[in-house]
Amino acid sequence: MLLLRLIFFVVIISAEAAGNFFQEVDVTWGDGRGKIMDNGNLLTLSLDKASGSGFQSKKQYLFGRFDMKIKLVPGNSAGTVTAYYLRSEGSSWDEIDFEFLGNVSGQPYIVHTNIYVQGQGNREQQFYLWFDPTAHFHTYSFLWNPARILFYVDGRPIREFKNLEANGAPYPKKQAMRLYASLWNGEDWATRGGLVKTDWSKAPFTASFKSYNPNGCVWTNAASWCCQNSAPWLSEALDSGNQKMLRWVQKNYMIYNYCSDKNRFPQGLPRECTVLPTKP
Ligand SMILES: *[C@@H]1O[C@H](CO)[C@@H](O)[C@H](O)[C@H]1NC(C)=O
Repeated sequence: MLLLRLIFFVVIISAEAAGNFFQEVDVTWGDGRGKIMDNGNLLTLSLDKASGSGFQSKKQYLFGRFDMKIKLVPGNSAGTVTAYYLRSEGSSWDEIDFEFLGNVSGQPYIVHTNIYVQGQGNREQQFYLWFDPTAHFHTYSFLWNPARILFYVDGRPIREFKNLEANGAPYPKKQAMRLYASLWNGEDWATRGGLVKTDWSKAPFTASFKSYNPNGCVWTNAASWCCQNSAPWLSEALDSGNQKMLRWVQKNYMIYNYCSDKNRFPQGLPRECTVLPTKP
């Protein structure tokens, strides 16, 4: 019994250490609007008329699984954008995005996702959520391995982007990325396409983050990086139950898919949109 308690204790300690914001991130902008609290277990970002705020991971990763619990700006959050993304450096950067577009009270947030490869984006999918993301913390995750990128909400896959380089579609796999989060004013496009502006009388707006859990191949410099080849996320794929869940989310909650937007791509849809799914 004592041994069991001891093990339990050790597990809790290491779980907390993994998510400690003091150790894992730097608040990089916002002049005091980004705050780490509660011994490093909680981070809040705020936005007012003068500025938003943001933070970034100290480490860079080439592939990984990243979990974060986020509670979005409550009340009238129209015009605000809470961004949570992976991004590499330079002018032909890779990027994997979650962006949460606020709304007037009682109206749904949009979860906007996008993927950039070598500076080229235009791969948006958007979703509504099946819960109120401002009432409680929920877990938003990226899984990025050599074969696929998966976006998860509370463990449910909402989007899969496969490596289809064999079919001529670009895939991000050469540049290490850092994790970023920010809260900023996106009133020109965020809410109903920019029709609803930010109500600054409600400022400051605040989004909260906790339980950051990065599990990745840490990139130290171009020549050396450390990775556990046995890490489960490195070869993770969707099993049939998860594929079913993905279809459920896409059928009921997806509101925009670039792959269905023929008008936007008069020269033809991007390569990855036209590859027929292979039978499992
Ligand atoms: C905000 O609410 C309106 C009305 O329900 C909806 O059309 C829109 O998609 C919602 N979300 C955003 C971010 O505009």
